[in-house]
Amino acid sequence: MSQSAVYAPSPEFVQNALVKGMEGYRALYDRAAEQPEQFWGELAEKELVWDEKWSQVCEWNPPFAKWFTGGKLNAAYNCLDRHLATPRKNKIAILWEGEPGDQRLISYQELHRLVCRFANVLKSRGLTTGDRAIIYMPMIPELPVAMLACARLGIIHSVVFGGFSAEALKARIRDLGASVVVTADGGWRRAKEVKLKPAVDEALTECPGVKNVIVYRRTGGEITMQDGRDHWWHDLDADEGISDFCPAVPVDSEHPLYVLYTSGTTGQPKGILHTTAGYLLQTMMTMKWVFDLKEEDTYWCSADIGWVTGHSYVVYGPLAAGATSVMYEGAPDTPAVDRWWRLIEKHRVSIFYTSPTAIRSLIRQGEQWPDKHDLSSLRLLGSVGEPINPAAWEWYYRVIGKNRCPIVDTWWQTETGAIMISAMPGAIPLKPGSGTLPLPGISMDVVDMDGNPAGTDKEGFLVIRKPWPAMIRTIWGDPDRYQQQYWSRMPGVYFSGDAARRDSDGYFWVLGRVDDVMNVSGHRLSTMEVESALVHHPAVAEAAVVAKPHEITGQAVCCFVTLKQGYTDHQALGAELRKWVAHEIGAFARPEEIRFTDALPKTRSGKIMRRLLREIVTTHTVTGDVTTLEDLSVVARLSAQREE
Ligand code: PRX
Repeated sequence: MSQSAVYAPSPEFVQNALVKGMEGYRALYDRAAEQPEQFWGELAEKELVWDEKWSQVCEWNPPFAKWFTGGKLNAAYNCLDRHLATPRKNKIAILWEGEPGDQRLISYQELHRLVCRFANVLKSRGLTTGDRAIIYMPMIPELPVAMLACARLGIIHSVVFGGFSAEALKARIRDLGASVVVTADGGWRRAKEVKLKPAVDEALTECPGVKNVIVYRRTGGEITMQDGRDHWWHDLDADEGISDFCPAVPVDSEHPLYVLYTSGTTGQPKGILHTTAGYLLQTMMTMKWVFDLKEEDTYWCSADIGWVTGHSYVVYGPLAAGATSVMYEGAPDTPAVDRWWRLIEKHRVSIFYTSPTAIRSLIRQGEQWPDKHDLSSLRLLGSVGEPINPAAWEWYYRVIGKNRCPIVDTWWQTETGAIMISAMPGAIPLKPGSGTLPLPGISMDVVDMDGNPAGTDKEGFLVIRKPWPAMIRTIWGDPDRYQQQYWSRMPGVYFSGDAARRDSDGYFWVLGRVDDVMNVSGHRLSTMEVESALVHHPAVAEAAVVAKPHEITGQAVCCFVTLKQGYTDHQALGAELRKWVAHEIGAFARPEEIRFTDALPKTRSGKIMRRLLREIVTTHTVTGDVTTLEDLSVVARLSAQREE
């Protein structure tokens, strides 16, 4: 083993674990590597319920993959109906708590009923297989209900995180060609109503394709409803024709399940397409392998369903695996900073999965808050979204896990659909800060610029060598961009956009992005998206955006802005531009810092050298080659400048 601290699973944990010891892991991994088709084929047969069996496990025409071709199944059936003939029928599927303290315990049977009723509502509005639905909701049970109702009918859903602005919502509705928007009046956060419906109204002024808006009443706040277009969920549901059962439509294995927009390296978000069978299989299997899921577990993934983590590990993975999945609507610090610990204690949560950003902000609150609570129900912890620094890892392990809960650090992306690198907690010894090893069936590597393995402890690009079941199929409406973005750097190899290194034990250490994607609180944001928002503002001439290291959120948005003639009030404009970006993209994108400058560092050909700006915000100095710079004095001025 290499130098870092190593935490082996305890004998008790290993004894009860699904996969035991390194031998258990190796056996599975090697089998999957030698016979991938058999490996995934057997799992698909055993773990999913099919209407028609597939004829081929994987068709790979690089870079386009199809999994389980010829098969038919339904994702909602696999998440719900299949459990109803088992003792799970009365098990809690979703254990929900609203921020004000309201609570709903929804059994598999009841969730099935809710999903069927809403599927019937969608049908009653004329929606059918292949149509597209935008879902823009707070973290309430009706959000997964709407997703599963779409899946039940083969309607392709796209959930837009409630923190996105009307502008961002509009772009997604238009790109997807959605004909229905499912939303709510608002939700609760920090004891305040956060309205959603007004953003829908604003977005729809330029979305003529949307014929129906279905609004769930959550807060009871004042909103306006447009006659003919907008309908209350409860009114549609009350119609006599809406029954408690709706047959699940068998769809092709490769039928699109959902599109989720994420940030790429341009200003235009990309719609990541996931399809049905492979996605479901891999999210379900990783749910079992990574979280070592037991029937009696109470599992809580704190992610918002608006991001991929929520899709795969609040909704599809846990429900397909028959778990009890906890959902919480609000902020971690309302009414007090121990709200999460309260939730864990109250609901006897046994598996807790969250982000390093959340952990760091909880560290800042102090140990006295978790110490007030009985957290002894916890047996496994997880981390996702960004590299976890060893200090945060150790705190999580000691203060929350009481030195007895393994921590699974899970590396994956919106594009991978499911966890790719993670410890199997009863098998793989942990090292703080490393995701450890790839899961069975996953072929990962770290390579140099030419695609050759980088070698032990050498930094390189994190790539995936073979197709995997839950992989992105394409970018919605843009197969060329899909090919170019992920598969053009090295032929036949998936380029993740992350840098990593492998140590002498083969463990992966993910170092962060190598492209223009930022990671703020585990949320993806492109520098170009923020730049194009800024240059829309009438005062802005040019903008360059870079990520700056941040103690809590991992990275923060730092903008360099030049102003048009006549604009001089830096203080007022700084505040206004922060607000402007929040309006154009969403509050989570609000820049931490706006620096005004008379010029940006450019090459003689006019390209902004963002690398220099990154260095200025991280180390305050500039290294490396600056000979292509047009005006060297710009860099000197920027380095000397303090935040305004
Ligand atoms: O840079 C990696 C980082 O998050 C990126 C993916 O972001 P997104 O598609 O929004 O999905 C986030 C949730 C899966 C990756 O390219 N990332 C995610 N998990 C980890 C991570 N970096 C290091 N360690 C992780 N465990």
